[in-house]
Order: sequence, then C-alpha cells, then structure tokens
Amino acid sequence: MSDGQSSGAVAMRRAAVAIGIFALATAFLFWLDPAGLYLWAKAIHVIAVIAWMAGMLYLPRLFVYHCDSELGSAQSETFKVMERRLLRAIVNPAMIFTWVFGLYLAWKGFGFWGGWLHAKILLVVLLSAVHGYLAGAVRRFAEDRNEKPARHWRMVNEVPTILMIAIVILVIVKPF
Ligand code: HEM
Repeated sequence: MSDGQSSGAVAMRRAAVAIGIFALATAFLFWLDPAGLYLWAKAIHVIAVIAWMAGMLYLPRLFVYHCDSELGSAQSETFKVMERRLLRAIVNPAMIFTWVFGLYLAWKGFGFWGGWLHAKILLVVLLSAVHGYLAGAVRRFAEDRNEKPARHWRMVNEVPTILMIAIVILVIVKPF
C-alpha cells in the first residue's frame, strides 16, 4: 500500500469513527429532548446541507477536469483520489445528516404536514438520486470506464443548483 493510500485509509477510518460517535450522541439527544433541541437540530441541518451542496457542486466540476486528463496519467490518478475522498468523507455523511435532521424537523415542527414540505421532500429525493448518479460516476471514473464527455458533466452540474434553489424557496417562503 502506498503512503497516499494508507493515509487515505486512516482518514476514512477516523471519519467513520467520528460519524459513529456523532450518530450515537444525536440518538441520545433526540431521546433526552432538551429545550432548544429543535433550533440546534435546524442549525446542524443547515450546516449539513451546506457541506452536501458544496460536494454535489464540486464533484461534477472535478469530472469535467478529469475528462480532460489523459487515461493512466498522474493527473487522472490524482482526480480519482480527490473524487473518492470527497464522496466518502464529505458528500455521503453530509447527505445522511441532512436527511436525519431534516426528517426530525419535519416530524417535530410540522408533523410531516404541509404542501411545501411534501414538495420539498420530493425534490430532496430527486437530489438524492443525483447523488446516487454522481457516486456511480466516481466508481466508473475510478475504473477508467467513464464514457460521458466534459460537456455532459457541465450540464449535470446545473441540476443540483436548480434543485437547491427550489428547495430553499420552498422551505423559507413556504408558498403553499
Ligand atoms: C432530507 C430531507 C429534508 C427534510 C425532511 C427537510 C425538512 C426541513 C424542515 C422541516 C425545516 C424547518 C423549517 C422551519 O423551521 O421553518 C428545514 C429547514 C431548512 N432546510 Fe431542510 N429538509 C430537508 C433537506 C434539505 C435540503 C436538501 C436543503 C437545501 C438544499 C434544505 C434547506 C433547508 C434550509 C435552508 C432550512 C432553514 C429554513 C429556515 O430556518 O427558515 N433542507 N428543513
């Protein structure tokens, strides 16, 4: 195992342990239900949303640059490491936190009721499907099996942006 790979594996293990501890602390907090928990949950939800969106916007950008690098080149191998780490250490955990805290807010604050909330959840399901598509692309790039041109990834880049704008308008304006 090269130095780069072993330090990557250590970083992944640390991230997994940190996520495990955080998940346990969260479950304990939901069970305790102290005053002010709703606002803390909302703060964590928004922090997770920012991390998730940052990754969802950056991954297709990396794919655009990756398409322009030669197969087997040092640059292409570096993009593989960047894509894998971004997905595993940031994008995947951020999506899980967004869902867990978003569902808690929806249940505690609104009893899962409201047209805006149902529309928002539908759009977040679509955003999660885009997440799945990008995760599949990380795997294909890692195996040098990507067949899509840079132009495709430039267009995919716009999808999370459009969904994010609609989701934020729904939750803040609550138009219906
Ligand atoms: C996983 C599904 C999600 C659910 C069930 C959910 C649900 C909720 C709920 C119920 C609130 C509290 C609203 C309030 O107190 O007025 C909230 C806040 C918020 N959510 Fe989500 N959310 C989800 C995902 C997302 C995503 C993907 C984004 C952005 C791309 C997002 C952005 C926000 C923002 C910005 C707030 C703060 C709104 C405010 O304080 O006025 N949420 N969410």
